[in-house]
Amino acid sequence: MAMLEAVTDAPSLAHDEVNASAPHPVTGYRSFKLGAFELSRDEYFARITWPAKGQTRSHLIPADAFLRAMMRDVAWGFFYGWVNFDHVIGTHNHYGNVDLYAGTFNGVLKAAEVNYTENFETPLIMATFKAILRDWTNAVFDPFAAPQETETAFGRKKGDNIEAIERFRIATKRMPGLKDDSPLRDDLPVNRHFADVNQDEPEVHAADGFEGQLHAFSLFKYLSRSDVTWNPSVSSVCQASLFCPTTEEFILPVFHGNDRVEWFLQMSDVIVWDVADKDDGNPRARITMRPGDICAMPADIRHQGYSTKRSMLMVWENATPNLPQRYESGELTPYPIEF
Ligand code: PHB
Ligand code: FE
Repeated sequence: MAMLEAVTDAPSLAHDEVNASAPHPVTGYRSFKLGAFELSRDEYFARITWPAKGQTRSHLIPADAFLRAMMRDVAWGFFYGWVNFDHVIGTHNHYGNVDLYAGTFNGVLKAAEVNYTENFETPLIMATFKAILRDWTNAVFDPFAAPQETETAFGRKKGDNIEAIERFRIATKRMPGLKDDSPLRDDLPVNRHFADVNQDEPEVHAADGFEGQLHAFSLFKYLSRSDVTWNPSVSSVCQASLFCPTTEEFILPVFHGNDRVEWFLQMSDVIVWDVADKDDGNPRARITMRPGDICAMPADIRHQGYSTKRSMLMVWENATPNLPQRYESGELTPYPIEF
């Protein structure tokens, strides 16, 4: 996504510092060291190890879930706040440097003091994550695609899919379809779940003297042709107000931990959200959003969404500078409305 592309375009010098092993003689996959973390994969699982209380601790994540989560973390430039790959592993963006953690935002592991956090300069962790994605994604697996639209992530190393993992650089400056801005998606097919979406574009009739200054496009048509899932792309920019619509199918591959309030508008179909405490993961709420529903996600929670049929969601982000500090200091309450 284009949300934080300045961060994703990290200097490539860090590439030289990526600590990768030779390919494993049986599986073909490389292992990676990042500080005291070690990341490896086999035919089914990504394995992450870290030191805590004098021992090496480990955690397994199914390879498909891991690659889907890492794809989002890389494409979003570590996003706003926390990107939890699951209930144990995740990243915390400090905008310039990034924490990688294991168990630190899991109430039980934290209390048992078997958690671990290490901070990295953004270019190094980005280069390492990109190298892992390149090495661990096989030719037939697309980590952005819905499960029914890709083949398996499992098995031994077989080719790569660079085209799929590099396709995230849609950088809308103002609106898609404007001159010198991101293209409309006329070259992409309508998704199977959106066959009923009207494909007409609006007619623009400018008054005399305003020719070339007005623009409009059909957002429903645009979204019906999205070939990726769970990837909010900036589609209008008005100062700090970013509209980031996205199409959703199956499960959001991460639990996003907010460092600001964000708003969801359900544009079509249904998404169910699990909402949990940001710090320890304890469940807080479950929300079913139907077309037209609007929901504010507070600044102190994590959330993960489920969508059986491909759906359209508008994510409204606030890019006002210093919001995390203003929430942390208590100047702003974590929810936008006092009921
Ligand atoms: C979010 O964290 O708010 C989010 C992320 C990806 C999506 C939708 C929402 O596709
Ligand atoms: Fe979020």
